[in-house]
Amino acid sequence: MTPTDILTATATHVRETLAGDSSGHDWWHIDRVRRNALLVAREEGANLFVTELAALLHDIADWKFHGGDDTAGPRAAREWLVRCEADLALIKHVCEIIATLSFKGAGVATEMQTLEGRCVQDGDRLDAIGAVGIARAFAFGGHFGRAMYDPDVSPELHQSFAAYKQKGGPTINHFYEKLLLLKDRMQTAAGRRLAAERHQFMEQYLTQFFAEWNGNT
Ligand code: ADP
Ligand code: NI
Repeated sequence: MTPTDILTATATHVRETLAGDSSGHDWWHIDRVRRNALLVAREEGANLFVTELAALLHDIADWKFHGGDDTAGPRAAREWLVRCEADLALIKHVCEIIATLSFKGAGVATEMQTLEGRCVQDGDRLDAIGAVGIARAFAFGGHFGRAMYDPDVSPELHQSFAAYKQKGGPTINHFYEKLLLLKDRMQTAAGRRLAAERHQFMEQYLTQFFAEWNGNT
């Protein structure tokens, strides 16, 4: 298959696989991440084909929906790319990106090995913050039956992936455990620039949320 054919077939495959998701990991998340990642990649001079392919496949079998198994994603991506007869170096690169991309807790480093990996990770993280990020967090919380907020449960800064995986706290805590930390972990100049505005919006949102919660408005 030509690179264009691989991208077209992969987009169709991903769209079918993620159809019906209501946790913020639906096709439109993938489409936004692809757009964000390509925007960053153009500025960084990264390989656009690898970036787009990894962005399309990055949540094909996320550990959050596979009993915490973080090998499910790279495995599903590999199986798909073998079916596409993609070359082995490309498969290895895309699977390595998918295996290392995810946030794993406040105290856990998630550095990417390649420029394309940094572009896809920043693209994914941009979609976790700002107005869309807020919507996704509450969709995820509702999907998994989490409380919206509980003043008796404090946020935790997880020091291991195992501890982060087991978390089950209210959605507001997720802002302190992950979302507000992302702007300082962006890996590219474009990522940092775009994250700044979205971060500020989340800060404003939380100020308003607590003002309303506490009856100060
Ligand atoms: P990552 O691979 O870095 O986890 P994803 O693309 O899988 O990124 O999306 C993660 C998103 O899922 C979060 O940004 C958030 O919107 C949602 N999410 C994950 N865990 C929680 C949680 N505990 N509470 C609320 N939302 C969550
Ligand atoms: Ni994602």
